Amino acid sequence: MTTDVTRLPTAPRVGIIGGGFMSVVHARAARSAGAHLVAVSSRTIAGARAARAALGAERASASVEELLRDDSIDVVHVCTPNETHAGIASAVLRAGKHVVCEKPLATSADEAERLADLAADSGLVASVPFVYRFHPMVREARARVRSGRTGRIFSISGSYLQDWLAAATDDDWRVDPRHGGPSRAFADIGSHLCDILEFVTGDRISRLCSQLRTVHADRSVNKGVTTEDLAAVLVEFESGAIGTLQVSQVALGHKNGLTFHIAGENETLAFDQETPDRLHIGSRDGFLVAPRSDTLAPEAARYSVVPAGHPQGYQDAFNAFVADTYRAIADFGAALPDGLPTFEDGVRAAVLTDAVLRSASVGGWVDARALSPIGRPAA
Ligand SMILES: NC(=O)c1ccc[n+]([C@@H]2O[C@H](COP(=O)([O-])OP(=O)(O)OC[C@H]3O[C@@H](n4cnc5c(N)ncnc54)[C@H](O)[C@@H]3O)[C@@H](O)[C@H]2O)c1
Repeated sequence: MTTDVTRLPTAPRVGIIGGGFMSVVHARAARSAGAHLVAVSSRTIAGARAARAALGAERASASVEELLRDDSIDVVHVCTPNETHAGIASAVLRAGKHVVCEKPLATSADEAERLADLAADSGLVASVPFVYRFHPMVREARARVRSGRTGRIFSISGSYLQDWLAAATDDDWRVDPRHGGPSRAFADIGSHLCDILEFVTGDRISRLCSQLRTVHADRSVNKGVTTEDLAAVLVEFESGAIGTLQVSQVALGHKNGLTFHIAGENETLAFDQETPDRLHIGSRDGFLVAPRSDTLAPEAARYSVVPAGHPQGYQDAFNAFVADTYRAIADFGAALPDGLPTFEDGVRAAVLTDAVLRSASVGGWVDARALSPIGRPAA
């Protein structure tokens, strides 16, 4: 066990595995939370050296194993392709280190559950960056629902639209199921969408009916593509609320369009992560655009780090997620910070992804309640 909880509050010592796009975001967030970047490893030593220079880490490790042998490292961020998450995160936990593992936590619900069980048995902090939870206006929406202000909820819908794979010439490792897993668009971004809908409403999707489409069978490298470019899903929640989910990586003009729309008996709440400092609150008189202000609910105000009118964005949300993860590590054994997404939430997203794949393959509605509200098998 390398964890020294008395040292963590001042300067957590961090390792990062994977040296691509997300490693930069994680490294910035780790620094912002006061961490010391000790080592980075990647698929190759050349990649690790390049990442070390880019991230400003102390050293490059030749392998994951070498990085994990460093007893001075307390917490490891796993920023590698999806199919490696379960194996690497398991190794991190077995090395006695806290872990932040990128989504999707694993490429099947079974694998995600085994990993969450390992994390629970280890007692270590194990979080997943469902970072859209950390926008103050998302917390504000959640606070309104929890306080009863929104009232009984009739419908819960959302979309996550991107266009970076819109052309047949666009390609990425995510397209190949050997690296990304059997689901692509849904596992990649639908997982964020489901997480935010269930997080804000406190409700759970009980059953769903999905249609998937692959619009480009042949891309520049990947041919005979089987993973979906887009998904359309009908959902029913445990409360009886109904809704629709639209997920696409081929929707031109949309860069990172994560939106939700929650219609309750007293008000509608609508959010768009591309304008994250605003919550749209609908009534019979129309929509009020509520800006991030000085009068937010305490659980939202906690994440408001610059004065109202000075925009916050994705990196701020990521910084808040990492800071809360480190806080959980510092307060090891105490209750987790409210709303910290853990491996249990990673399992929940994997269960929903499996359900979406199953529904599309068998046709019709499938049960999405395989697990209880906190993610573990129902008693
Ligand atoms: N939470 C979020 O908001 C968010 C956003 C984007 C991506 N992601 C997730 O982050 C993960 C990484 O995505 P990315 O866009 O950074 O990918 P990327 O391709 O830019 O980077 C992946 C890195 O991992 C390295 N790598 C590959 N196999 C490895 C192995 N076996 N051991 C060590 N290193 C290995 C690669 O060399 C590369 O440096 C994905 O799982 C993705 O779903 C999360």
